[in-house]
Amino acid sequence: MTEKTVSEAIAYRRSVRVYDPTKSIDTAVVKQCVQQATIAPTSSNLQLWEFYHVTDPSAKAKIAEACFNQAAAKTALQFVIPVVRKDLWKSRVKANLAFLNAQFEAQGKRDSKREKMATNYYTKIIPTLYTDYFGILGFFKGIFAYITGLSKPMYRQVSASDLKVVAHKSTALAAQNFMISMAAHGYDTCPMEGFDSKRVKDILGLPKGAMINMIISCGIRGEGGIYGPQFRVPFNDVYFEK
Ligand SMILES: Cc1cc2nc3c(=O)[nH]c(=O)nc-3n(C[C@H](O)[C@H](O)[C@H](O)COP(=O)(O)O)c2cc1C
Repeated sequence: MTEKTVSEAIAYRRSVRVYDPTKSIDTAVVKQCVQQATIAPTSSNLQLWEFYHVTDPSAKAKIAEACFNQAAAKTALQFVIPVVRKDLWKSRVKANLAFLNAQFEAQGKRDSKREKMATNYYTKIIPTLYTDYFGILGFFKGIFAYITGLSKPMYRQVSASDLKVVAHKSTALAAQNFMISMAAHGYDTCPMEGFDSKRVKDILGLPKGAMINMIISCGIRGEGGIYGPQFRVPFNDVYFEK
């Protein structure tokens, strides 16, 4: 089957609540769609995410139960669970620095202005932003940003909860990449936030710092699997040209 174009895939994607039990999906294709997900843009290229692809029947049943056995979960053939790993920021900084150093080395641009700026970004700015102790430092960083912002433009998303939003935002972009890639193959999905996050973390064996971004059920749309026509508020209510 030829893949759909981006516009076709966007139009095809619907939240499917009932999957056809007689139609299977190829695990390798789903994995390839997860790979497409990881090409999504991410704040500071920190890639504070992981993706759990659940295909094992007993794990699937546990995930469905943690999703309150809602239809989209109960009839799912597989799950893909994007997880926010803000707690991995130090290792992601290291990976970025290693990559950038290799790039600058290969281009003979070590000690260039760009290299110094990039190194400064990952060794000073990012650690200042991400280092926190139970939200206390974030609180003071917020006050600093507010005072500095009185006289000049200032980055203000510095509190612990702001950084959570930053990490979830990037992970959700990856989730959308995944769902569009699935649609391009004629595969269906349903993003869900109706779940018990603690139970899901336990099932996946995740540490306390990990956060479930959403749970995406996967399969092929079954009869009555799409609950109705797609509803959106009028475009002119949400589109503003300035
Ligand atoms: C973050 C997020 C969480 C959602 N959670 C659920 C959910 O728990 N259960 C469900 O059936 N649908 C869930 N949905 C699907 C929405 O209800 C659906 O996207 C919306 O009704 C628009 O329909 P469409 O996706 O078919 O265009 C969720 C969607 C998003 C983006």
